[in-house]
Amino acid sequence: MRHIILTGFMGAGKTTVGKLLAQKLGCPFLDTDQLIQQQAGMSISRIFAEKGEETFRSLETAILKEAWTQEEAWVLSVGGGLPMREENRRLLKRIGAVVYLRVNRDTVLRRLSGDTTRPLLSGGNVEERVDSLLAVRGPLYEEGADLVVDADHKTPDAIARELRKLWDQ
Ligand code: S3P
Repeated sequence: MRHIILTGFMGAGKTTVGKLLAQKLGCPFLDTDQLIQQQAGMSISRIFAEKGEETFRSLETAILKEAWTQEEAWVLSVGGGLPMREENRRLLKRIGAVVYLRVNRDTVLRRLSGDTTRPLLSGGNVEERVDSLLAVRGPLYEEGADLVVDADHKTPDAIARELRKLWDQ
């Protein structure tokens, strides 16, 4: 089995779906945000505040390069901005099958209302921020994906079951 990578906007459910899918497939689950926080010994918000977004983006690329060298199959969920770098999109496709969990702005706003862990959405007008980021990112997520799953009206478990079936075939 090739590795499975979940991409999509903040709030798409990548981590929740990824954990469920890994359970169903009986393989490890990895998450780039978690790995970066462990390695840096600080939260994503602190990395953004103290080291800047560019440093965070470079850590994301470094994690992908490391992950690529591992032989064991796993499910990997990646931060919402990771596929924005062209280099990262290429790496993802080489690593495994890329599944884009697509959600619309209303789903994002509903799921992330009150969230304080995403530096890109803190402060300012969150609706405008989500709209402008989605407009830029949507086409790039699609370009980098092998499969697109519309995730607005499905439970994480239903999506995990759907993906599991595909990988059984
Ligand atoms: C980001 C998404 C976050 C995290 C960081 C930046 C983004 O991950 O990597 O806050 O640029 O969209 P999630 O997509 O898991 O929220």
